[in-house]
Amino acid sequence: MNENKSYDIADLSLAPEGKKKIEWSGREMPVLKLIRSKFAKTKPLAGITVACCLHVTAETANLMLTLQAGGARVILYNTNPLSTQDDVAACLVKNYGISCYAIKSMPREKYEKYINSVLNFRPNITLDDGADLIATIHKKRKDLLNNIIGGTEETTTGVIRIRSLEKRGLLKYPLIAVNDSETKYLFDNRYGTGQSTIDGILRATNILLAGKKFVIFGYGWCGKGIAKRASGMGAQVIICEVDPVKALEAVMDGFSMMPSTEAVKTGDIFVTVTGDKSVLDKKHFSFLKDGAILANSGHFNVEINLGALEKITGKKTRVRPMLDEYLLNDGRKIYLVGEGRLANLAAAEGHPAAVMDLSFADQALCVEYLVRNKGKLASKVFKVPDAITDKVARLKLNSLNIKIDNLTPEQKDYLSGWEEGAFG
Ligand code: NAI
Repeated sequence: MNENKSYDIADLSLAPEGKKKIEWSGREMPVLKLIRSKFAKTKPLAGITVACCLHVTAETANLMLTLQAGGARVILYNTNPLSTQDDVAACLVKNYGISCYAIKSMPREKYEKYINSVLNFRPNITLDDGADLIATIHKKRKDLLNNIIGGTEETTTGVIRIRSLEKRGLLKYPLIAVNDSETKYLFDNRYGTGQSTIDGILRATNILLAGKKFVIFGYGWCGKGIAKRASGMGAQVIICEVDPVKALEAVMDGFSMMPSTEAVKTGDIFVTVTGDKSVLDKKHFSFLKDGAILANSGHFNVEINLGALEKITGKKTRVRPMLDEYLLNDGRKIYLVGEGRLANLAAAEGHPAAVMDLSFADQALCVEYLVRNKGKLASKVFKVPDAITDKVARLKLNSLNIKIDNLTPEQKDYLSGWEEGAFG
């Protein structure tokens, strides 16, 4: 494969299937659709090159088409070697002429090579899910900096990375932390990851959840979503946390709480969703029950220490698509979903379109905002402007035909005043 080729995907002939998928998910993305038709008329992104490092799913395709409708030249690269939907990638290349470097099971060498191919398009805007484009530009491609207007970051782990760059005084262009918008994390991380992680585990294993001891590491937005859904399906949910406030919240939400070294002795299914590394580690593996199932839904595949697991494994066998059996040297069998990568994207199709509608509406409007404010923003990490969050929520409610009340002028004054107290 020539590094200068403008795309690399698995199979162009899959495009018709991809088109159906993109159109199906588009039906559940009414807010993005509205933005797309407005962009098509006003062309706010004319002349702008946008490099995206995202999960290549049908929902992402709808975001790509929105940016393209706004006049942007769009290049899409897979943020995760296992999350690409090959038919969607084929359709983007064949039907829409979008440069796409994305293949399910992309090997590491290609992954590293193509990030440069993508950056060779000299983007004005970067869209990241995990901050790999941003990190590569800051580490190795500083030559691109004077061309860059700004960028966005989609996920919690990526926001941690960009805030670290900012804190160390190394950040070289303005970034918007889309993850931290209420119209993102409250819905995408909670309901999206909640549902799709369970979906991934079930597609990989087809087990019954009712009655199982389901251990979740991390009671953040994603962990809360998974816990509620697992519990709704009859599992006994156990949480492991390191943050005392989150731990207390989990207890008052009705879940059991244990140190991880206790939970591993009793659990049937384990899901890590912390954004941290080696959450399930060597010290835990010796206590796992025969038949325990491990899955990760945190951004990188570092949450389960796979190196340590391999060391105590005699034989590894793929027993179902996206499920590997680890026969340990002591005779126990442990099962791993989706190679320890995001279970919802590796073993299922990622978040439902209805939640990605919100996240990607935020993304599209943030890209427009960055372009409109070219040269005016400092090299800092910004919140999604409140006006965008508010607009996205209102458009979504409209699309659901749900009306809400408005504050009266008197209430507005009261809510922003200090004068009135206990006796008026
Ligand atoms: P969060 O910051 O809201 O929650 C993470 C929680 O993990 C925190 O409560 C923290 O105290 C806890 N934690 C950290 N280290 C721990 C440890 N060693 N043991 C137990 N708990 C620990 O983050 P959020 O938004 O829930 O995201 C979690 C991860 O999921 C991130 O990597 C994020 O990028 C990723 N993510 C994945 C998605 C998917 O599609 N699978 C979607 C959205 C986010």
